[in-house]
Amino acid sequence: MPPDLQALSFQTGSIFTPGAPINEKDLFAGRSEQVEKIIDAVSQRGCHAILYGERGVGKTSLSNMISAFLANRLSFVISRTNCDISDSYSSLWAKALKDIEASKRQPQLGFPSRQAVPLTAPAYEALTPDSVRRALQDLSTMASLIVIFDEFDRIKNTEVITAMADTIKALSDNSVNATILLIGVADSVNELIREHQSIERALVQIPMPRMSDHEIRTIIDKGLARLT
Ligand SMILES: Nc1ncnc2c1ncn2[C@@H]1O[C@H](COP(=O)(O)OP(=O)(O)OP(=O)(O)O)[C@@H](O)[C@H]1O
Ligand SMILES: [Mg+2]
Repeated sequence: MPPDLQALSFQTGSIFTPGAPINEKDLFAGRSEQVEKIIDAVSQRGCHAILYGERGVGKTSLSNMISAFLANRLSFVISRTNCDISDSYSSLWAKALKDIEASKRQPQLGFPSRQAVPLTAPAYEALTPDSVRRALQDLSTMASLIVIFDEFDRIKNTEVITAMADTIKALSDNSVNATILLIGVADSVNELIREHQSIERALVQIPMPRMSDHEIRTIIDKGLARLT
């Protein structure tokens, strides 16, 4: 293969990435309706969101774009946790809270300054919806929090799911400045979180359909425009 064709082929592989979620706004196509719903949930105190759909429709890519779409707003700290089958309620929240704690040490990521952040150190091994609510309440006085749990369908333990619903209820009832975004492969919200009736009003449901032909064409156009 001639060298310039080799370079082009290499570049194509880094622009069209069917194996990895998109994390660059310029390559992100369509999904305006879903983006709007997420932004709505984030900007309304007491509102949380659940994003669900078939495998591979672009759920993770969409959640990677939240910071880009919030760029000009107030300071936000976003934590992202991937759930796995062995996770307990405590292990999930330990990962998320440690992520937020780590942001405290990088003020440019959202928290105004290191000293100004309260030094809450919850016992990570015994977290409950109430201790999580308290920890988030403290942390969110400095910056709005967005806590993402991706691959939530991996959680099969109903106690963990119920505790997550209780957490959403507690955050919502206490008007905490934090938004939980649950993401998972499912045909309905019911499949991911059976207790959703108790948090119906606090949970923005965002179904993620397959892309329209127009959206798919936009992916190709944006990618081709990038190729030099
Ligand atoms: N809005 C988009 N613009 C451009 N490409 C996208 C978009 N959404 C998804 N893609 C492409 O589709 C692929 C699958 O997307 P992604 O990994 O985000 O899906 P997913 O729903 O999170 O999948 P899974 O259910 O396996 O976790 C990505 O590799 C990415 O290349
Ligand atoms: Mg994904």
